[in-house]
Amino acid sequence: MLEIQKFNKIIAANWKMNGSINFINNFLDDLTFENINDQSICIIICPPFTHSYLIANKLKNCYLGGQNCSLFLEGAYTGDVSASMLYDVGCQFCIVGHSERRTIFNETNNEVSIKATNSLKNNIHPIICVGETFQQKKDNRTKEVLSKQIIESINGDSNNDNTIIAYEPIWAIGSGLTPSLDEIEDIHNFIKNEIQGYENYKILYGGSVKSANSKEILNLNSVDGLLIGGASLNVGEFKKILSF
Ligand code: PGA
Repeated sequence: MLEIQKFNKIIAANWKMNGSINFINNFLDDLTFENINDQSICIIICPPFTHSYLIANKLKNCYLGGQNCSLFLEGAYTGDVSASMLYDVGCQFCIVGHSERRTIFNETNNEVSIKATNSLKNNIHPIICVGETFQQKKDNRTKEVLSKQIIESINGDSNNDNTIIAYEPIWAIGSGLTPSLDEIEDIHNFIKNEIQGYENYKILYGGSVKSANSKEILNLNSVDGLLIGGASLNVGEFKKILSF
């Protein structure tokens, strides 16, 4: 497995259920950027399962990630894709517990923790997502909600060198809204310093990141990288974000 701690910044592209062979060919042909040979920057592309293998064979200077993996290791689970299958096609990372999985597919913290373990068992680094709803933020419950998600979703198999945390406020995802820089710093510092055991974890920020705000977010001391949805589908935007 990789040593996560050696990376200064980690930028992950979450393509969600978007893309096609044609899109991928054009995207990868265009994907050149200034920092491309900087080994301290970790760039991860997370395409839909179906297109992972195609990308694995074309990706240069970037890592491949999954967007989810099965709760189960193998067997009669029609439609599921296991962590070992992801590893088999070249994935070294897997997003688990994305808020879309938690809300649309009712994934629980316990299931997220099992998926993280399945990933680790198969030499894949889980990127475990947490985040509060707008109502929870309004009710001043953000820190309480995040503590519970983190404690229940990240189990003893994880450590700061094999697992990444992504803080993604649900209300910021795909909405064009973001927390203020102070709010992002406050939450990342809260996770690192006030929830016991997560001091040296890498924490990515995600939610409406685009080239217009990516530099200032990445420059925050407590932000170790970004998890980018919509803006990662536009190669021009993505290249601008990568040129920090
Ligand atoms: P967004 O999505 O960048 O489109 O807000 C982020 C995510 O869902 O990971």
